[in-house]
Amino acid sequence: MPDPTSPSPRPARDGDDRKARGGGGAREGDRSHGRGRGRGRGRSHGRGSGQGPGRERGAERHTRRQEAVAARRAALPAPEALHYPPELPVSERRDEIKALIRDHQVVIVAGETGSGKTTQLPKICLELGRGVEGMIGHTQPRRIAARSVAERVSEELGTELGTLVGYQVRFTDTSRQDTLLKVMTDGILLAELQRDRMLSRYDTLIIDEAHERSLNIDFILGYLRQLLPRRPDLKVVITSATIDVHRFAAHFADADGRPAPVIEVSGRTYPVEVRYRPLQREGPPTKQGEATFVEVDQVTGICEAVEELWTEGSGRDGAGEDILVFCSGEREIRDATDAWRVCSFPAPRCCPSTGGSPPPSSTASSPAIPAGGSSCRPTWPRPR
Ligand SMILES: Nc1ncnc2c1ncn2[C@@H]1O[C@H](COP(=O)(O)OP(=O)(O)O)[C@@H](O)[C@H]1O
Ligand SMILES: [Mg+2]
Repeated sequence: MPDPTSPSPRPARDGDDRKARGGGGAREGDRSHGRGRGRGRGRSHGRGSGQGPGRERGAERHTRRQEAVAARRAALPAPEALHYPPELPVSERRDEIKALIRDHQVVIVAGETGSGKTTQLPKICLELGRGVEGMIGHTQPRRIAARSVAERVSEELGTELGTLVGYQVRFTDTSRQDTLLKVMTDGILLAELQRDRMLSRYDTLIIDEAHERSLNIDFILGYLRQLLPRRPDLKVVITSATIDVHRFAAHFADADGRPAPVIEVSGRTYPVEVRYRPLQREGPPTKQGEATFVEVDQVTGICEAVEELWTEGSGRDGAGEDILVFCSGEREIRDATDAWRVCSFPAPRCCPSTGGSPPPSSTASSPAIPAGGSSCRPTWPRPR
């Protein structure tokens, strides 16, 4: 079957893809990794076994594929072993989401950060038996997020990272032949597309954070739209913040023009209080008794705000909170850090962090805040 999107379709590859969809997906995909597949490769040549190329070899491959699928099915976690944290909105809507994924090829899940999209959707997919005919591919825009999501889901499933759940980023691949869920950067999925135009190693794709609309994500979404009719067995879950969801739905309309279903989960709500503290203070009154105002700089404003919050926090049942301060550039972070360190207020410890710094040794995955090419997150965590 010629691939109209491919500038130079390779018939042999497409042939592989057809087989893969018909019953060879995981094997074919896995073999293209070229790691530790000696047994499979040796057999497929049929050397010394008296078999010629052709039907027998195809039958052998089919049997191997069936064995692999059976093993993957056996590795699926039992539904009762899957725990969904009850406080997460995605957990609350689990049955609805499950039904939508079961009944539609593409589902869009929209929800605020922290609602449980990234960590809970893979488990819902596993509960539906996805990940058996091929892997569940879960894309993240950032490397550090790919790793921490894999670690977190693996931990929630009670498995060791690199077994049932693995991750692949540039230069590191912890996924294996029997991995059911592979978390990767969207760049990795794009690179795989060049070798495997049918994405035959996957039976499900979760494209996370689609609202970020990077070039990678846009390309993947564009490609998937034309691939889906040729891969009716492939399920796609798109997750997004609550913006643009209906455009995604329209993009993935079915053959009859019906938009893909959208499910919006609520965010986790926390009380938010907004206080404005203009960088202006009352100065000494004029001789005529008129009020005057003086400007204070940003650093002073930050120090005063931290002091105000810290003092209030520690006053409430002795519990202070960590405080996150966002600045627009590295110099502002440095200035604020220096000022904080010399000021007399004793309690918080200051940990400056910029988007340009090397990744921290922890796996914190908060995205850097893009602000004119520079980003920052100085924090004053409470000493423990
Ligand atoms: N690595 C982690 N360590 C501890 N808790 C985590 C971790 N990842 C996620 N969580 C918890 O799971 C919740 C849901 O996270 P996530 O699934 O990433 O939500 P969303 O993708 O909707 O932003 C978070 O609010 C947090 O409580
Ligand atoms: Mg997320």
